[in-house]
Amino acid sequence: MRKVRKAVIPAAGFGTRFLPATKAMPKEMLPIIDKPMIHYAVEEAVKAGIRDIIFSTGRGKRSLEDYFDHSYELEDQLKKTGKKDLLKEIEDISDMAEIVYIRQKHALGLGHAILRAKDVIGDEPFAVILPDMLVDSDVPYMKQVIEAYEETNRSVLGVKETTPDKVSLYGIADPAESADTFKLKGVVEKPAPEDAPSNLYIFGRYVFTPELFDYLEKTKPTLGGEIMLTDAISDLIKSEGVYGKILEGTDFDTGDKLGYLQAMAWYGLKHNDLSEEFSKYLKEINQ
Ligand code: UTP
Repeated sequence: MRKVRKAVIPAAGFGTRFLPATKAMPKEMLPIIDKPMIHYAVEEAVKAGIRDIIFSTGRGKRSLEDYFDHSYELEDQLKKTGKKDLLKEIEDISDMAEIVYIRQKHALGLGHAILRAKDVIGDEPFAVILPDMLVDSDVPYMKQVIEAYEETNRSVLGVKETTPDKVSLYGIADPAESADTFKLKGVVEKPAPEDAPSNLYIFGRYVFTPELFDYLEKTKPTLGGEIMLTDAISDLIKSEGVYGKILEGTDFDTGDKLGYLQAMAWYGLKHNDLSEEFSKYLKEINQ
């Protein structure tokens, strides 16, 4: 069994649902209260036992790099002003993980963003974390998926249940059996409700065997030039088999405005310094 040591975090999309905010900054740097989304993704990877993170980035790469780098001027200023707690928090961010940046020069889809990491990953299994899917769970989602990989020794897709009216927004799993960790018959990209094989959508936490790269390389681009991850997963299902794992916890689709707002409210109500006043305020405006 080869251990999962590396994770790819794709962060090169245009974030069109958040324009104009994302015109000059990556969506992944949008804050949830006081930490950018990408911080939560890296934290989740580290808690799942991963040390090497590969960011697939495009425009706005500087702010991501700066965020995970030391900021000597800032650290010096915090030292001088005696803000010890804040200083530690800022220093810890730079020491969270080993980070490698890869450039996805053209945003040609998620499959393409992952394929760009092929040389850095090499011949070993790896995780993929979509940073715009935010998780608050006892056991990190990425850890749940890695444990399922260790059980099955196959690629694993984390899945969550949705309602029939939302299946056309996601990639949907076609399970071959009824279990928490289940073998997949197939995956269907954004099906109409009547064609959906289940209500289980692919959540954005994956472990892949390196064989995925062979299929990504063979995947024909769509008319818009995109390399679809779902196409390569379908090939992987046929060749060596892929499993789904039902994830347990609370999560938010922060790539979507409503999901983003819900995440803000959730973390606001959990925040040590804000929770009481914020809860009062929500009640006030809801009268
Ligand atoms: P999304 O499907 O949410 O696309 O990507 P997007 O461009 O970020 O946002 P919208 O849909 O236009 O509003 C899911 C994740 O995959 C990355 C994104 O940065 C995001 O983290 N991604 C997507 C890439 O890295 N490259 C791509 O070509 C597409």
